[in-house]
Amino acid sequence: MTAPATDDEPASTPTSTASARRDLPAGVSLPAIESAARVLSGVVRRTRVVRAGGLDAGLGMPVWLKCEHEQHTGSFKLRGAYHRVACADPDERARGVVAASAGNHAQGVAYAAAAFGVPATIFVPAGANPVKIARTRGLGARVEQVPGGVEAALAAAAEFAAAGGRLLVHPFDDPAVIAGQGTIGLELLDQVPDLRTVVVGVGGGGLLSGIAVALRARRPEVRVIGVQSVLSPAFAAALRQPTSTVDGPAVDVPVLDVPVLGRSCRRPTLPRSPASAMGRRTIADGMAVREPGRLTLALARSLVDDVVTVDEAAFWSAMVWLRRSGLVVEPAGAAPLAALLRHGGLARGSTVAVLSGGNIDPAVDARVRALAGSAQVPSADPVEGDLVPGDLVSGDLVPSDPVSSDPVRTTGVASPPGMAGSRCP
Ligand SMILES: Cc1ncc(COP(=O)(O)O)c(C=O)c1O
Repeated sequence: MTAPATDDEPASTPTSTASARRDLPAGVSLPAIESAARVLSGVVRRTRVVRAGGLDAGLGMPVWLKCEHEQHTGSFKLRGAYHRVACADPDERARGVVAASAGNHAQGVAYAAAAFGVPATIFVPAGANPVKIARTRGLGARVEQVPGGVEAALAAAAEFAAAGGRLLVHPFDDPAVIAGQGTIGLELLDQVPDLRTVVVGVGGGGLLSGIAVALRARRPEVRVIGVQSVLSPAFAAALRQPTSTVDGPAVDVPVLDVPVLGRSCRRPTLPRSPASAMGRRTIADGMAVREPGRLTLALARSLVDDVVTVDEAAFWSAMVWLRRSGLVVEPAGAAPLAALLRHGGLARGSTVAVLSGGNIDPAVDARVRALAGSAQVPSADPVEGDLVPGDLVSGDLVPSDPVSSDPVRTTGVASPPGMAGSRCP
């Protein structure tokens, strides 16, 4: 990881970039991502980029939203999953495809398996988002629910795949998956010519590291920032641990609660877990990963500027803000916007927030809709069940009426110059 930027400094450029690129693990390189883009051409949507007009005034620079929630299957995960399945040994693939996922990777893998006409079995953590499970089944996959979270589902999937010689598609720690996610970085370079900062949500780190590989190779001055929930900060915490390598010993990742970083984006010292956070689960189910990938972490250490954390209320603020602009985004997908709302200093120059998924739980969606109809945003985590409309207060940087302060209100969002033809149907 490079030194985090401060408000007084120009945007940081990783000092280790050149040597880091030479040392990138096999299979995760710019040519691999360019090859993935060719494989995915005609399969995935080149999702649109739209201007977050209402944020510009508050942050003092252009903010763009990359609409991966409009991807087929409702999230970016299709890119990596399809690429991995497409690159697999045909015999292994024909025996069946297996994955573990909280839901978005599940749909990507199910979609890819259906495209190749092979069976898919997906292990999901018990209690996973019912919409994601239903959509995964709708794509023809068999879904097995496993108690014990994503890690238990991963273990069950690995066992099942090994027993039948089937293809295991890891949700993030696989070079072909990372290369697939990295195709977003290539698209962004075309779509936002003066790109300076990209902010993405982080679970296991496949999205973050893939985009970072693409951007560092093509435009090293672009800053890449990851975002996690303060309730699920494993990647952010691991990044602050002493260096390890892909081939070295596994990183021991303590489950820490990292507080919201200050606007200066200075690296914090890790605090004791706040009592209020103990035992709570993040609303951002797609990012609730307790163990970062070894490959993704190694890449992030070399290529990523920082991974910050945001509080749960920020996710709600971001979803409400987006809903008022006509965009339906799930909590994990709203993480980058949540970070920008909380820490305006993260935005330096033309900034892109990757809206990585839109498969929102119906109960969460109902809450967001209700909040979007009021002029305020939540001050606490409504999931805890203690929020009533009278509890609401205005958020940090959220305009009290973001939509009406947006000059492009009729559409909610606007395309960047030259992008009108690239909008989704
Ligand atoms: C919507 C969404 N955003 C971000 C992420 C994080 O992706 P990664 O695990 O590659 O870090 C996920 C993971 O499932 C997700 O579903």
